[in-house]
Amino acid sequence: MCGIVGYIGDKQAQSILLNCLKRLEYRGYDSCGIAVGGSSVGVYKDAVRVETLGQASPRFNGTVGVGHTRWATHGAPTQVNAHPHLDCTGNIAVVHNGVITNFEQLKRQLTGEGHNFVSETDTEVIPHLIEKYYDGSLEKAVDAALRDLEGSYAIIVLMGGRPELIIARKDSPLIVGVGDRGNFIASDVPAILAYTGRVIYLEDGDIGVITQKNIKISRDGKRVDREEHKILWSVEDAQKAGYEHFMLKEIHEQPRVIRNTLGEYTRVVDLAAGSSLIGEAGMESMLMLASGTSYNAALVGKYIIEELLSIPVMVELSSEFDYYKRILARSVTIAITQSGETADTLKAMKKAQEAGCRVVAVTNVVGSTASRIANQTIYTRAGPEISVAATKSFVAQLMVLYWLAMTYPKADARRSAALFTELRQMPSKVQQVLDNENAIMGHAEYLSKYDNVFFIGRGINFPVALEGALKLKEISYIHAEGLAGGEMKHHTLAVLSQRTPVIALLAKDDTYGAMLTNIKEIKARGAPVIALAGDGEEAIEELADFVINVPRVDAVFSPVVNIVALQLLAYYTAKKRGCPIDFPRNLAKSVTVE
Ligand code: G6P
Repeated sequence: MCGIVGYIGDKQAQSILLNCLKRLEYRGYDSCGIAVGGSSVGVYKDAVRVETLGQASPRFNGTVGVGHTRWATHGAPTQVNAHPHLDCTGNIAVVHNGVITNFEQLKRQLTGEGHNFVSETDTEVIPHLIEKYYDGSLEKAVDAALRDLEGSYAIIVLMGGRPELIIARKDSPLIVGVGDRGNFIASDVPAILAYTGRVIYLEDGDIGVITQKNIKISRDGKRVDREEHKILWSVEDAQKAGYEHFMLKEIHEQPRVIRNTLGEYTRVVDLAAGSSLIGEAGMESMLMLASGTSYNAALVGKYIIEELLSIPVMVELSSEFDYYKRILARSVTIAITQSGETADTLKAMKKAQEAGCRVVAVTNVVGSTASRIANQTIYTRAGPEISVAATKSFVAQLMVLYWLAMTYPKADARRSAALFTELRQMPSKVQQVLDNENAIMGHAEYLSKYDNVFFIGRGINFPVALEGALKLKEISYIHAEGLAGGEMKHHTLAVLSQRTPVIALLAKDDTYGAMLTNIKEIKARGAPVIALAGDGEEAIEELADFVINVPRVDAVFSPVVNIVALQLLAYYTAKKRGCPIDFPRNLAKSVTVE
């Protein structure tokens, strides 16, 4: 998704802006640009990577500027559609993240008033509106322009000859980084982490005037105070640390992520005192809302919570929730979102709240929009996740769900106690999977030659099959489908052949026998089977063509070891196929539009 940055301080802005844009690359983009302010505004933009932009750009002199990475929505990824966009005079530059839904009408109106448009974007109406309303105060002109806009935006406005940046947000994230000798603005924290860890989150409807020394935020014409947050992530957390890709680094971080996430809650939850992670004693049902990989984590959560708490759990895609007509108002709602900024999930959270549900956000980003909308927030401690393909955030989300279920008063105490002991061993179990990397690499080489791959699982491993397929598809571009083992006979058996490997996830639970039958059915149709199974499962070694061994764990924890193996499998398959692993085509890390 689009990313925006701004800087105003005592240093040359250009190199700082390019640096910040590089750190936004992970969000996904197809073009980029910068504008630097002095007595006039210098702009350079193109449909290129940030590095190329930096090399090709003329040197601009100025200590204030804005930058943008664009993920095309209105108009193709071309030089002219890239941001910043300018008014007719070329002196007002705007970078924008979001979608202006009434831009066509505004464009017609402004064209009639003599404004000249050059791009196909929705954004370009903003600088023209500001130009129209400008009467000596840039802040007032921006305020007036915003009143004409419908849709979502996070914007930064720069005007030549003015040592200030005007910023505003509505339904798109925007933060101010507080520096000692200047201030920063960005869509998210990793962009500015190299410069400051002090962050202010803007709220919807806020307008800010940012100068080198001052941050003034107002709302409805009145000044407001916004709390400053200290970000604990380090710059190193957001760098590759010698790994070839962020994805591989993040896969390898998982033992630590599990320890950190569990450590967080062992501190806050006093088991002896009987307190739980969610302060809701008489919970009768649960609703979970999420998108993408977080949705698959929620699906695993359904099996965990239904087993341990014996309450019904509904899991819904955030993007579909808007179309549902009846919601159980008494359901405790858990919204799972790594970024805390996914537009569909934020919208679903608000709808659940309007229906009377108490909403608990499970998110990785302190101060994110989800954390501010929610009635309660539980943080995962995964650290910044840069790779578009989510890995460590999924495992951290699972840890919160295990902990939430196991500490809930209604949980079966004896079962929970046994599981606690094993939960604490998860970091070392995951490490054992990572230590098996070389063997998984061999299987990845084999998979990389195929165009269609199926993943099957039953029970708690059904959503893991979905997530394994999602991972492989998004980074290797192999068509991959995850499905419940029991569904094969209803459709997928029809397409099996020697050219369609099937990855079967085994767990020693009540699904085991049925999974063995599935494998036999698949073999009978000539399709190769790669089985993922606990160490020493002889029955499977005889049946499957290949076996990826994972450490033996209680079946309820099998998603953790299985997904780590599948993440590695996806990673090395994509690597073998020469794919741009951290930046899969057309995908974005943070999806801030519906
Ligand atoms: C995008 C990302 C996925 C992520 C999904 C939901 O599609 O590429 O990795 O799972 O959004 O994001 P969230 O931040 O809400 O978990």
